[in-house]
Amino acid sequence: MSVRINDRVTWVGKTDWELRRFHGDEYSTHRGSSYNSYLVRDEKTVLIDTVWRPHAKEYVEKLKQEIDLNEIDYIVIHHGEVDHSGALPELMKEIPDTPIYCTAQGVKTLTGQYHQDWNFVPYKTGDTLDLGSRKLIFIEGKMLHWPDSSFSYLTEDNIFFSNDAFGQHISSELMFNDLMDSCELMQEAIKYYANILTPFSKQVQKKLEEILALNLPIDMICPAHGVIWRDNPMQIVEKYSQWSSGYQEDQVTIFYDTMWENTRLMAHALKDGIVSADRGLTVKLYNVAKTDKNDLMTEIFKSRLVLAGSSTVNNGLLSGMGSILEEIEGLRFKNKKAMCFGSYGWSGESVKLLNERMEKAGFEVIHEGIRTIWTPDTAAMEEIRAVGRQLAEEL
Ligand code: FEO
Repeated sequence: MSVRINDRVTWVGKTDWELRRFHGDEYSTHRGSSYNSYLVRDEKTVLIDTVWRPHAKEYVEKLKQEIDLNEIDYIVIHHGEVDHSGALPELMKEIPDTPIYCTAQGVKTLTGQYHQDWNFVPYKTGDTLDLGSRKLIFIEGKMLHWPDSSFSYLTEDNIFFSNDAFGQHISSELMFNDLMDSCELMQEAIKYYANILTPFSKQVQKKLEEILALNLPIDMICPAHGVIWRDNPMQIVEKYSQWSSGYQEDQVTIFYDTMWENTRLMAHALKDGIVSADRGLTVKLYNVAKTDKNDLMTEIFKSRLVLAGSSTVNNGLLSGMGSILEEIEGLRFKNKKAMCFGSYGWSGESVKLLNERMEKAGFEVIHEGIRTIWTPDTAAMEEIRAVGRQLAEEL
């Protein structure tokens, strides 16, 4: 089904209600997602992005119901990742000579994946595609989040086609932000930023400045995933500006892995200590073995302070904690403090190792950490609560 966005723009994408894991198994999509493709009709007709490969046949069949494919003058592929370019092979069987506009890096990405000698037209920032009464202006978005990423702006309609930027993994038939539950929408938007764009925050800042300096009026932002921002579209630009500048809320996140419950007891004592300080901090606590990794990264992204815990096993960390630390290191969070804790029976290396890993991940480790041998007794629990209280007071 296609959806009319305005007199000239029609959404011809795919809403994927049943998607629960994305990027292989890397990203959880509790609310599904969509792959947004747009048809812009002027004197010339341009198709912007396609959909993920598994939906290619369905996409092309539905596109044929919307338009005679031979009436498509140009195709724009903002970014070659398969969730946006995956239907190209199916589509190009039908219209093999149609020019494909993309960045120079996009040509490499697309030929590297599809090995086809299509009619590529590389563009740079500021290049335009004349559609008749309006133009598409291209803007490169290198490393947002791939080297080939780019955006375009449709004059007269003042629409910014932002590809992955400003997206959310949400499936909805409602299509527009003002029709959505705003809490759900922002929760998915921040999760998307935290898990996909955090490592590129410097580039996000620079690109936002560059785009804002163009002084283009923006009436609508059409991303490649999720709903379209048409009610106060600059709200998501403002959010990206905040999220890309060492974002934090008044939140402390405790996450741990435990073998025989002793590190779990420590985590809860820390939480109780922070709460008892009554400093208005939001405290959240997660056992990493029972927690969705991407949801946890979102909570860490929102935090001022994180408390990371693991029991010692085989002179090291529990493996569940190891994989979480790997993810944290990759996301390169900024402006965050950490303290580590863990129980042990004899060797007790976990806290030292956690401190090293958190420092390597760019966290400021503000306390040497707490180690407890075997099960913390009443006195040890009180000491741990006291550390929690002190951390909250000093934050
Ligand atoms: Fe939605 Fe980078 O692909």
